[in-house]
Formats: sequence, C-alpha cells, structure tokens
Amino acid sequence: MASLELRHVSKIYSTGDQQLAALRDVSLTCRPGVVTAFLGRSGCGKSTLLNLAGAMDFPTAGEVLIDGVSTTACTDAQLTTLRRGRIGFVFQFFQLLPTLTALENVELPLLLANTPAPRAIARERLQWVGLADRGSAYPHQLSGGQMQRVAVARALSQSPAILIADEPTGNLDTASGEQVLQLIRRAATEFGASVLMATHSLEAAAIADVRIHLRDGHIESHS
Ligand SMILES: Nc1ncnc2c1ncn2[C@@H]1O[C@H](COP(=O)(O)OP(=O)(O)O)[C@@H](O)[C@H]1O
Ligand SMILES: [Mg+2]
Repeated sequence: MASLELRHVSKIYSTGDQQLAALRDVSLTCRPGVVTAFLGRSGCGKSTLLNLAGAMDFPTAGEVLIDGVSTTACTDAQLTTLRRGRIGFVFQFFQLLPTLTALENVELPLLLANTPAPRAIARERLQWVGLADRGSAYPHQLSGGQMQRVAVARALSQSPAILIADEPTGNLDTASGEQVLQLIRRAATEFGASVLMATHSLEAAAIADVRIHLRDGHIESHS
C-alpha cells in the first residue's frame, strides 16, 4: 500500500476577506523507499503541500491519506500518534531545542512516545548520522551541517514511514548539504521511509527518484 496519497487536494488560505488558493487539485502517491522532490519557485505551494502531507494542516477540499486513513477523519489522539510515530520532519532552520544536548534532542520524541530504551535508540541514530562523539554538545556548539544531521537523527528516531524535509539544505554550504542529502537518500533506502522533500537546489533534486514541479499551486510536470 502507498504510505501517502493526496487525492484532489486543494488548500485555500483565508486572511480577512482575502482568499488565496495555495494548492489546486493536487493528486499524487508517495511510496516507501522513494524520494519525491517538490520543486518550484517561492510561493508555489511546496511548504503547504508538505504540511498537509505531514498532518500538520488539513486540505480545504480533497483528502490526504496516510496508510490509507484520511487525516481529516482522524481524532486528535490519532493525529498525535501519527505525528509522533509515523512522520518525521526536517526543517530548513533545524529547529533543535537549544537547551538540550544533541543526544537529548534525538531522545525527546522517543520519551514523548513512551518508546522503550529511548537513550539506546538515540545513540544509535546519532551514530547513524556520524555524530556518535557529539552527543553531549549543545546545538550552539555544532556547525549548521552537524545541527541538520542531528535533526535528521531526531526525525528518524521512531523509524517513521514518512520523512518530510522542507528545504533541508537551504541554510547549508554545499559540502554539508551533500552529507545531509546522502542521509536523506539513505533514510529512504535503509529505513524504507517515503521521503518528501521541498527544495530549490539542483543537487537536492538530483538525489530524488521522482521530481514534481509545482507552479501556482498545481502540478506542472513530473520528471
Ligand atoms: N498560513 C498562511 N496564511 C496565508 N497564506 C499563506 C500561508 N502559508 C502560505 N501562504 C501563501 O500560500 C502560498 C504558498 O506558500 P508556501 O506553501 O509557503 O510556498 P513555498 O513553500 O513553495 O514557498 C504563498 O502565496 C503564501 O504566501
Ligand atoms: Mg516553503
């Protein structure tokens, strides 16, 4: 079964008396082990699409199905379980908690989900991203590339079915960005995650299996 499906999804933002169609009739399927990149200029709807796919927001029309279940039909408890256990997020500006060490940042989602042996899993994930020796460092003591690798370790802490990365290399130099992209690629291959990545970068688009070009909220082409 596809882990993620969008069926005729539209998203309209209403602010005051203004309405803006950020997504218009978008349908797509993302499968386990496959990296899908979303390309297109700023404002074309990439982040909106990822937020809907990650059950952080809901479509105005159409459906987002995660493991066959519509996010719109989920109870709050089901949504919490989904977001904590099935979906991992990586953001452009890392969003690590500054008062926690690298290891504690990776461990936190495991603690919140009451997963057994959270510390051991967190250590294993830090090792997986090549930062086993930086577990006791605080985010401000790490480089941007290291912070993003910690963020990838955190996103993968629960072995999510879906990994969502919104401009994951947007704030990194080329070499650090390449390391992060290789981890994202391996997340699909080794964890079997269905990866959705928004990007402007050609290097990032190059690691994807499927490239979807968005324009003004609709799918312009696949490549
Ligand atoms: N919360 C919001 N409220 C109103 N408009 C929004 C909101 N989020 C995004 N938009 C608008 O929706 C469109 C798509 O934005 P976004 O999904 O962030 O695009 P991208 O990530 O491709 O830059 C833009 O016109 C943006 O200004
Ligand atoms: Mg965006």
